[in-house]
Amino acid sequence: MNPRITIFDTTLRDGEQSPGCSMTPAEKVRLARQIERLGADIIEAGFPIASAGEVDSVRAVAEEIRGVKIAALARAKEPDILAAGKALRGAAHPVLHMFLATSGIHLKWKLKLTPEEALKQAVEGIKLAKSLVSEVEFSAEDATRTDYGYLREVLQATFEAGATTLNVPDTVGYSLPHEYAELIGRLVRDVPGAVISVHCHNDLGVAVANSLAAVQAGARQVECTINGIGERAGNASLEEIVMALKVRGSTIGAETGVKSELLAPTSAMLSGVTGIWPQPNKAVVGRNAFAHEAGIHQHGILANPLTYEIMTPASVGVKETLLVLGKHSGKHAVESRLRALGVRLSPEEVEAVTARVKQLADAQKYVYDDDLLNLVGSSQARSIRLVRFQAFSGSQVLPTATVEVEVDGETRSASAVGNGPVDAALKAADAALGLDLELLELTTRAVTGGKDAMAEVLVRVRHDGAESSGQGASTDTIEAALKAYLSAVATARAAHEQPSLAEESA
Ligand code: KIV
Ligand code: ZN
Repeated sequence: MNPRITIFDTTLRDGEQSPGCSMTPAEKVRLARQIERLGADIIEAGFPIASAGEVDSVRAVAEEIRGVKIAALARAKEPDILAAGKALRGAAHPVLHMFLATSGIHLKWKLKLTPEEALKQAVEGIKLAKSLVSEVEFSAEDATRTDYGYLREVLQATFEAGATTLNVPDTVGYSLPHEYAELIGRLVRDVPGAVISVHCHNDLGVAVANSLAAVQAGARQVECTINGIGERAGNASLEEIVMALKVRGSTIGAETGVKSELLAPTSAMLSGVTGIWPQPNKAVVGRNAFAHEAGIHQHGILANPLTYEIMTPASVGVKETLLVLGKHSGKHAVESRLRALGVRLSPEEVEAVTARVKQLADAQKYVYDDDLLNLVGSSQARSIRLVRFQAFSGSQVLPTATVEVEVDGETRSASAVGNGPVDAALKAADAALGLDLELLELTTRAVTGGKDAMAEVLVRVRHDGAESSGQGASTDTIEAALKAYLSAVATARAAHEQPSLAEESA
């Protein structure tokens, strides 16, 4: 059996230090509940000395989340340590995380301390922390640019003073995997008894590689964040570490207790809170992580997903593989998308539509559900259609929208207000359809350049426990969102009314 490593999630602390990712106490509590469900072992909730809001956040998370350890950060200074200890008072399993830089450059230019003074400050800080909280972690900030002999001395001294976990941060993302593995291997041997923890930043794009190399070298705790958010280029991404250990665990020699099926929903919840979505090609949780456009790949995926996927979308909580229709797509993907939309064609008709899909994609890059249904031109294709809409918004008005849709030939309309024009339009669509769908995800991007760019909207919705997705495009973002939403509803209806492909061939 592989040893189980501790996942120390610092999304709410180091992740929050990412520009644009600041969170309120209520948002931190909501995310902490999800991270607890996800199966992380420790949640670092904040840095109490930083602000009154941070004190409230740590206190609220500590009081609400009882099933995992809750950590708070402090510099090696009495006021910081006392503030962290106080904020953690209500925690069921508190961890006080104290840090002090050890590299020559930080000691000289930032702290203006001699190595001897810093060593003394670290030991005194750990003793004070230990008098408040039984579990204390010490981080040697900028460890990877610290002289090895001095780093070992500080870690040994803080361990003897009461720190049980010794963290070795690659604070500036400078290390390479073979160097970091060598450093961690030496410390595991030279400071026996301590839990050696790793904390990698992604300045050179190797934070996850460094963390995994360190685990192979004997590290037993990994500090990481959802979506890899964090200072500058971010921290090691939790979902990538978890999936590397799930897919390649026997090679790496470790496992985690994380429920991988909750990775995508957790990533989406964080993006919903911060408004920052991972880049589309981000491993595991990016929108394209399970998307295929090339016809050869699409054919392979439809025949057997293992041809081009090393993990199933379901294993990370993604509902389905996305086959993007573009100029590289083939008839198998076109037929599959049409079936999902409730349209069945003969093989000859599929060939003809595929040729037209390629023509259209040459002109406009992607072919959306709406375009596909237009190409088919079939009456059966259009069970739900956007007839027209109107939306008002501005700095001094309540965003309002009126939407008219055609459902099975019948016209229906409704109006609604929302917290923005897209929200109002989707609420009006719900009212017109007589439905109340849960919107799981909505992403927008410009598929062409310039101020008059074409916006593409992708949505994922849940209705009656089943998820479906839809796409829409327009130079008007609200129209694109409505088209995507109605397409997701039509897909959900079609899935309800028809047997799935798997059932049919069984
Ligand atoms: O990157 C870093 O060194 C840190 C420490 C506070 C652990 O975030
Ligand atoms: Zn950090």
